[in-house]
Amino acid sequence: MGASRYRPPLFSVAPMMEWTDNHYRTLARLISKHAWLYTEMLAAETIVYQQGNLDKFLAYSPEQNPIVLQIGGSKLENLAKATELATAYNYDEINFNCGCPSPRVAGHGCFGARLMLDPKFVGEAVSVIAANTNVPVSVKCRIGVDDHDSYNELCDFIYKVSSLSPTRHFIIHSRKALLNGISPADNRRIPPLKYEFYYALLRDFPDLTFTINGGINSVVEANAALREGAHGVMVGRAAYHNPWHTLGHVDTEIYGAPSSGITRREILQRYQEYGDSVLWKDGNNRPNVREVAKPLINLFHSEPGNGLWKRKSDSAFMHCTTMKSFFEETLVAIPDSVLDAPIAGRVPSGREDLFANIHDLMPPPYHAREEEAFPPNQKSFENKEKMASITMTAPFLSATNLAKGSPRMGQRRLVVVANAAKGGEVEGVQLSGETKRESSNGRRDLMFAAAAAALASVAGVAMAEPKRGSAEAKKTYAPICVTMPTAKVCHN
Ligand SMILES: Cc1cc2nc3c(=O)[nH]c(=O)nc-3n(C[C@H](O)[C@H](O)[C@H](O)COP(=O)(O)O)c2cc1C
Repeated sequence: MGASRYRPPLFSVAPMMEWTDNHYRTLARLISKHAWLYTEMLAAETIVYQQGNLDKFLAYSPEQNPIVLQIGGSKLENLAKATELATAYNYDEINFNCGCPSPRVAGHGCFGARLMLDPKFVGEAVSVIAANTNVPVSVKCRIGVDDHDSYNELCDFIYKVSSLSPTRHFIIHSRKALLNGISPADNRRIPPLKYEFYYALLRDFPDLTFTINGGINSVVEANAALREGAHGVMVGRAAYHNPWHTLGHVDTEIYGAPSSGITRREILQRYQEYGDSVLWKDGNNRPNVREVAKPLINLFHSEPGNGLWKRKSDSAFMHCTTMKSFFEETLVAIPDSVLDAPIAGRVPSGREDLFANIHDLMPPPYHAREEEAFPPNQKSFENKEKMASITMTAPFLSATNLAKGSPRMGQRRLVVVANAAKGGEVEGVQLSGETKRESSNGRRDLMFAAAAAALASVAGVAMAEPKRGSAEAKKTYAPICVTMPTAKVCHN
């Protein structure tokens, strides 16, 4: 998917564990119709091992679209399976986490920010995710890890991942991660922000799209980033700590849409319906009123009555069993003038000059050094004959699948590279026996073409694609549960 066709969200709310859950996203969507919402990071293993309980982790109400599922993990099989299981839930994009510095993530199972040190794995991981979904895939990362913090190292990471996978969208949390034991919160505060790295990526990778993240606190600052050329802006903590003022102006100021004119009283009326419909639904007295009301607690940030509302809420959590009774008991603290003020008020101020002079600070241009980026035996799309290895199961290799003609690439311009394996041995992409959901999706074309190219080069013949939707096609396009240790599939 080329940059000209793929547009990342202009404004998105960052994935935040234990914060951007269903409750928060419900509130966020009531305030902004256009902001893209990210889920909390969900480990692939959680999805795979909770197959009987998927709704708990993956379900959301359709109003939340556009919404992105963020997955973390370090096992290709689980990433593939988790993506496949998530497909039924209609996410708009799947994002792969390469930015989380939490020791719980980075230390155990090696995922999150630590994966920036292994771009080849990240390329494979995003490839298996892409092979199991029809929606775009993206990567969220830092600008470096520990001492691997030069601009060139960041570029090598972006270059390798985008060369080894269909990823065309990177979200750049513009500070490095320190994996030396400082807390996740400190890791979002101590390493300095280097927006100049972000803007240098825009210059050096014009075919890719990048979203800027880190330290952007208002629509004014988001617009300042967009004015400097950012493709998209992601905001995390400000959208949680001050949802009304941060998200309330996104539709008008970022997207140029008319104001909904909604008030906080109306939002709370709708949230009450939502809250009372989900209270106690998970069993074991969960979620309770405190949990459902959690994202509301910042709704009156710096307004008159805010302190009293928080104190009343604390005491109401002890005994309220419905959202209705919770609001009846607490909202008396907030003046009507606050509750009934429409969203279209004064746009909160921000640092309009946050990115002033950023172009003067940019590091020298990056020149992809493919010889250094890829060891000789992993060579790339320009070097088809020597390329990656692909495994196919017997049905795929059967004589009936071999025919004259070349694999059809469909309307997308695909560049498919398959490493002609030595001595006819092929390994890497596994195609198994069941039939997949659709036979006409782009990912299928891509994987089919990859397999076909490898097969053709091994068998010395070209292949024709069976007619879409035919029994032959269903048999041929066996589901792609992929392990792609070395296969390289590129498209643009
Ligand atoms: C409580 C909390 C949880 C977070 N969880 C995640 C996560 O699950 N996945 C992720 O990629 N980033 C996570 N982050 C990082 C944010 O997505 C974002 O990159 C970071 O907060 C910087 O953006 P900001 O300055 O706008 O907050 C989390 C941040 C916070 C505050």
